[in-house]
Amino acid sequence: MTPPVVVVTGAAQGIGAAVARRFAAEGHAVVCVDRNAAVAALADELGGRAVVCDVRDEQAARSLASSLDRCDALVNNAAVWHLSPLLDTSVDEAVEVLTVNVVAPLVWMRALVPVMVRTGGGSVVNLSSVTSAYTATGTGLYPMSKAAVESLTRAAALELARDAVRVNCVAPGMVVTEGTQAAYGTDDEQRRARGQVIPLGRMGEPRDIAEVVAFLCSPAAGYMTGQVLWVDGGFTIGGNEYFRIARSRSGGHPTSPLPD
Ligand SMILES: NC(=O)c1ccc[n+]([C@@H]2O[C@H](COP(=O)([O-])OP(=O)(O)OC[C@H]3O[C@@H](n4cnc5c(N)ncnc54)[C@H](O)[C@@H]3O)[C@@H](O)[C@H]2O)c1
Repeated sequence: MTPPVVVVTGAAQGIGAAVARRFAAEGHAVVCVDRNAAVAALADELGGRAVVCDVRDEQAARSLASSLDRCDALVNNAAVWHLSPLLDTSVDEAVEVLTVNVVAPLVWMRALVPVMVRTGGGSVVNLSSVTSAYTATGTGLYPMSKAAVESLTRAAALELARDAVRVNCVAPGMVVTEGTQAAYGTDDEQRRARGQVIPLGRMGEPRDIAEVVAFLCSPAAGYMTGQVLWVDGGFTIGGNEYFRIARSRSGGHPTSPLPD
């Protein structure tokens, strides 16, 4: 029997790479999509397949879809952000954030959901962020794009339920990845300081998120669709305590490293 197939976008590093590893470990054939050609090394390591493209490239998504006999899961993980105040956000930056973070998940669903439907259904997980609700100064249109991807998720879940395609979101809190080094700092001391204001006492690791993505794609979540699961170590349950402390200590940008 052919193994289940999962397509993970933004798989070259960070959360996407952890998600690809998690699915490979449970026997999925993994398709790793990224604009960074380094994704090929991960695909090789996992015995999977790499697609090097920009996630906004609809032709690349359609070409992959036409080559697949089955597609059991799609994880729309690739995203970009520009850390600048709203009024310093250029139109080009705004368009990039909205097209990569919101339109591209639609592009990959348009291409791959028909493959899922052909084989009896599947699961889509879109990566959101706790900033969809707890916005922060200096993060441009990123929070808005994540609120939009949650809305997209609910709309898709409603329309695709009758085809047995479930669509959910995972909203991470602060997770240590290559992409968040500029915002969260690179040394252990900075990360430890940030971790102290999170109820569970540490910043997240990519595998914390990968586990929940895998759960949402599994039969154990078979009665869940249109939902957003926050995976943030309790970061947001305390009235956005982190941002309050960061602001009061630094008097500045809430994502800048916390001073001692
Ligand atoms: N790390 C966090 O703290 C955090 C918090 C909340 C939400 N998230 C979300 O989790 C997801 C992964 O975050 P991460 O920290 O692992 O990111 P990251 O920057 O480390 O990795 C993102 C990957 O996406 C790829 N990518 C970006 N734009 C692309 C494009 N146009 N075409 C193809 N590939 C593209 C990059 O090359 C990179 O490999 C994102 O959706 C992000 O918004 C992360």
